[in-house]
Amino acid sequence: MKELIKKLAASHSLSISEYERLVKERNDEAAKLLRRLAVETRQKIYGNDVYVRGLIEISNICRNDCYYCGIRRGNKNCERYRLSPEEIILCSDEGYELGFRTFVLQGGEDEFFTDEILGGIVRKIKARHADCAVTLSMGERSFESYKFLKDCGADRYLLRHETADPEHYGKIHPSSMSYENRVKCLHNLRELGYQAGCGFMVGSPFQTEKNLAQDLKFIEDFKPDMCGIGPFIPHKDTPFKNFSAGSLELTCYLLSIIRLIYPPVLLPATTALGTISPTGREQGIMSGANVVMPNLSPVSVRKKYELYDNKICTGEESAQCRECLSNRMKKIGYKIVTSRGDVKK
Ligand code: SAM
Ligand code: FES
Repeated sequence: MKELIKKLAASHSLSISEYERLVKERNDEAAKLLRRLAVETRQKIYGNDVYVRGLIEISNICRNDCYYCGIRRGNKNCERYRLSPEEIILCSDEGYELGFRTFVLQGGEDEFFTDEILGGIVRKIKARHADCAVTLSMGERSFESYKFLKDCGADRYLLRHETADPEHYGKIHPSSMSYENRVKCLHNLRELGYQAGCGFMVGSPFQTEKNLAQDLKFIEDFKPDMCGIGPFIPHKDTPFKNFSAGSLELTCYLLSIIRLIYPPVLLPATTALGTISPTGREQGIMSGANVVMPNLSPVSVRKKYELYDNKICTGEESAQCRECLSNRMKKIGYKIVTSRGDVKK
C-alpha cells in the first residue's frame, strides 16, 4: 500500500485495478500517509487558505427523478419553491456585503430558468459585483445554452458526473437520463471555457469499490477544476430511503486521493460531510479539501431544499453560517479567504 501511495503522489496516476486496491485494502496507516501527503500537496499550492463560496439554492423544482434525491419530481411531499430573479440578486448583494466573491447558483432542473432568465440574472450579478465569480449548478443543458450563459458572464459550472460506470448510473437514475449525456455536458462545459466541476456521492446505493476506482480514473483523465464529493445520505421520501449513508472515513480517504491525483483541484468539504458528522467539514479540510460553501439562501426556503434527511445549516442566517465556518476553520489552523479563489493551475 505504501508503495502504491508513493507512486500516486509522484506520478498522479494509477491503473483502475490499483485504485481499486487502494480503496479495498485501506487501513489506518494508509489513510494517515495519504492525509499527510494530501495536506502537504495542498499546502504548496494554496497554503492554509480555505476558499468560500456562497451557495444560493434558487429552486427545488426539478423535471428529473434521480432516485437518491429529495427534490426529485416524484416526491409529492416536497414543498416546492422558486426564488425570483430579484430575490436571487438580493442574496448576492447580501453575500457581497459579507465578503463573498463567488456565488454558486444551484437548483433543480426548473424550466422557469430559461437561458434568457438565468442569463439575465448572471449578467446582473456580474454588473453589480464585477470582482465576483458566478458558478452555476443547474444540471444538464444544451451546448447552446451553456454557451449563452457563458457569454452572459458565468465563470464556472458544477455538474457531478455521479458515477463513472454507465451500468451503475442506470441503477441510480431513471432511464430518461444517461451517463453519456452527463459526460457530454461536462466536455461541452470544458470546451466553452468554463472552470468545470465533476464529482460523485460516496456510498451511493449499489456502488462498488470498482466503481469508486472508475470515478478516480475519470477524475485523473478529466482533471476537473472543481470536484464535489460527499457522502450519500438517504432521504425519507425517495426510493433509496432504506439504504445507509456513506461514511466519513471513506469520504475523507477519497478526498486525500483526489488531491494527489490532481493537486490544483478545488475540493469542497461539503455540507453532506458536515451532516454525517459534527466535525465532518473540518476533517474534510484536514484530509486535503480547500473549499467550504456556506449557505446564502433565504432562511425561509432552506428547509425545502432538502436533498437528504437532517441537512445542516437550515436555520441560520447567512452571516451566522459564514461566522460559524470561519471559526471552525480558525480552530483547526486554517484561514477563510474572500478572494474569487480561482484554480491555481
Ligand atoms: N440539478 C443540478 C444537478 O443535477 O447537477 C444541481 C442540484 S443536485 C441536487 C446537486 C447534487 O446533490 C447532485 O449532483 C448529487 O450528487 C447531490 N445529492 C442529491 N441527493 C443526494 C443525497 N441523497 N445525498 C447526498 N448528495 C445528494
Ligand atoms: Fe433534480 Fe435531484 S432530481 S436536483
